[in-house]
Amino acid sequence: MVLKGRLKLIYDMIPPCDILSDIGTDHALIPAFALLNGRCKKAIACDIKPGPLERAESTRRKYMLTNSMELRMGSGLEPVREEEADVIVMAGMGGALITQLILKSINIAKKANCILLQPMTNRDLIRPFLWENGFEIIDEGLACEGNKLYLVISARYTGIRKVNKDRIRELIGDVLIRKNNPLLKDWVIEHIRKQRKAVNGLKRAKAVYDPEKIETEERLLKELTELLNSLGG
Ligand SMILES: C[S@@+](CC[C@H](N)C(=O)[O-])C[C@H]1O[C@@H](n2cnc3c(N)ncnc32)[C@H](O)[C@@H]1O
Repeated sequence: MVLKGRLKLIYDMIPPCDILSDIGTDHALIPAFALLNGRCKKAIACDIKPGPLERAESTRRKYMLTNSMELRMGSGLEPVREEEADVIVMAGMGGALITQLILKSINIAKKANCILLQPMTNRDLIRPFLWENGFEIIDEGLACEGNKLYLVISARYTGIRKVNKDRIRELIGDVLIRKNNPLLKDWVIEHIRKQRKAVNGLKRAKAVYDPEKIETEERLLKELTELLNSLGG
């Protein structure tokens, strides 16, 4: 079995652990690869729908992992017991759904040694959500697949809440900057493109013309451009 791109990055960021819980597992490729490579001793592959769990079951059989991988049906972290919370992966779902599911089972998320989040949409919700709820961001990674960039964030609960007023830190991520991630420039360019589109949209929306909002969004665009320049872009 070979993992590439997004899934390989998620796997690479999983620390060695006893129990890996994969929420929204679908094909169960992440827990299977982690078990086959000894990254975890046991895996709990969870999904809300029977169809994905059938796919998980065929992966489990194909790689003869029936003794080490459990399949559980349920929403979010609900199928995971508190004493099982060790490393938790939530990948391939929207950022809004991921934050809702964590909030619903916050005690389990707090108990985990590491939560790995890979949001497909609304990625900028993740960092402020983690900070406001007392989670520390440990690591961040980017993967490129096709022409798309994927973000993975790893975090753990410390109880120390952080108030952040700096939107650029929510969008780009300190760790990516500090580690000078090889895809950082592409990541910033992607945000500049989106931000430029947002600013132009606001300027065109004459019926609800809001100069203050335009100024705020233009400032963010300027900061993103300055960041890109500082990276030699
Ligand atoms: C796009 S797949 C991602 C599969 C895999 N995690 C990956 O990253 O490739 C999203 C999966 O999340 C599952 N899902 C959606 N809402 C969920 C919820 N509330 N709880 C658990 N799983 C959910 C879907 O059934 C689907 O199998």
